[in-house]
Amino acid sequence: MTAPRTTIWDLEAHSRAKHDILGRYLQSWVPILAQGGFPELAYIDGFAGPGRYSKGEDGSPIIALKAALENADRIGSKVTFLFVEEREDRAATLQDIVDEMRTEIPTRFTVKVEGGRTFEQAARAFLMQYTEQGTPPPPTFAFIDPFGWTGIPFSLVEAILSYRSCEVLVTFMYEEINRFIGHPDQAGNFDSFFGTTEWRTAIALATSRDRNRYLHNLYLNQLRQSAKAQYARSFEMRNDRDVADYYLFYATNSMLGLKKMKESMWRVDPSGEFTFSDVTDPRQLVLFAKEPQFDILRPRIVERFRGREVMVRDVEEFVVAETAFRETHYKRQVLRQMELATPPLLFPVDPPPNRAPGTYPDPKQRIRFA
Ligand SMILES: C[S@@+](CC[C@H](N)C(=O)[O-])C[C@H]1O[C@@H](n2cnc3c(N)ncnc32)[C@H](O)[C@@H]1O
Repeated sequence: MTAPRTTIWDLEAHSRAKHDILGRYLQSWVPILAQGGFPELAYIDGFAGPGRYSKGEDGSPIIALKAALENADRIGSKVTFLFVEEREDRAATLQDIVDEMRTEIPTRFTVKVEGGRTFEQAARAFLMQYTEQGTPPPPTFAFIDPFGWTGIPFSLVEAILSYRSCEVLVTFMYEEINRFIGHPDQAGNFDSFFGTTEWRTAIALATSRDRNRYLHNLYLNQLRQSAKAQYARSFEMRNDRDVADYYLFYATNSMLGLKKMKESMWRVDPSGEFTFSDVTDPRQLVLFAKEPQFDILRPRIVERFRGREVMVRDVEEFVVAETAFRETHYKRQVLRQMELATPPLLFPVDPPPNRAPGTYPDPKQRIRFA
């Protein structure tokens, strides 16, 4: 997609899917954090856009605001919304939409449209105010949704993730990046975006597929190793020509956040216009479909736990953190099948006398894999 020049533009199917994920995630994230007793929360939309598409569809900042407003009675905390949009015309459109919603917005919600500033300027100033106060920033979700790769220095992503309760969702515009990767003018921008010079290796790779994999894995590793995110996963959107359009990288230190993000991902309705999959593990692409592919999950669990005695919660941690699957996917469809198989492939260790075979209500229940 070439970046539009007009103030507002048409919403494409792949962006609709992204919005769907964002809206669903925030619907559960904001109330959970609010119940966690945090006095303040923050949502940064670093590349906010005008807040509306040509046929009246909501843009990401308005989706986020509406998700919070729908849950306002469950959110006692103050919430700061920081909507950053470099272009003044787009920021002005967004400001008008926010102003129209003014009467619905409770006083504990602060909505700031930062027009004419870049994500980098606004996000660094946001973090700096807390550094100066000597306090960590509030739990913050940063949505980083550019048209390209400039204006998102990895050092800033790292700075956000250096706080335990901050997390990021980054759109990685693969097609655009791939097209410009060998362009000499862009070397400095790519150094900044990847936070390393290693991306240069991709230039010499023969096929687009190899470059795709290499750059994807590099960004994922940077999130895990340089930014030290406890959990980082990537999701791929393919268009109707079956070409990888963009990735979403999600990085967090929160297991609950990861569970909620996966729940949102699995609920996106695939359409004829795109397919959406988890591509974190280079050996295994898992499509998000109505019926999960349990034939992929079972061998992963067996490979990891064969011959071992562990707790049910260890299996859950593995499933959520290291596979594409959810915490709702492994008990009935994998553990139960293995326990009830003939001969059994899984044995509960000292289960309570009233336990029904093939059920795992206690996360501390020990189980032994054949
Ligand atoms: C992909 S669009 C955002 C779409 C929006 N997030 C949504 O989903 O509705 C990217 C936006 O970022 C703006 N932009 C470009 N560079 C920027 C920067 N460095 N900082 C902030 N905004 C920027 C562009 O003007 C454009 O409106």
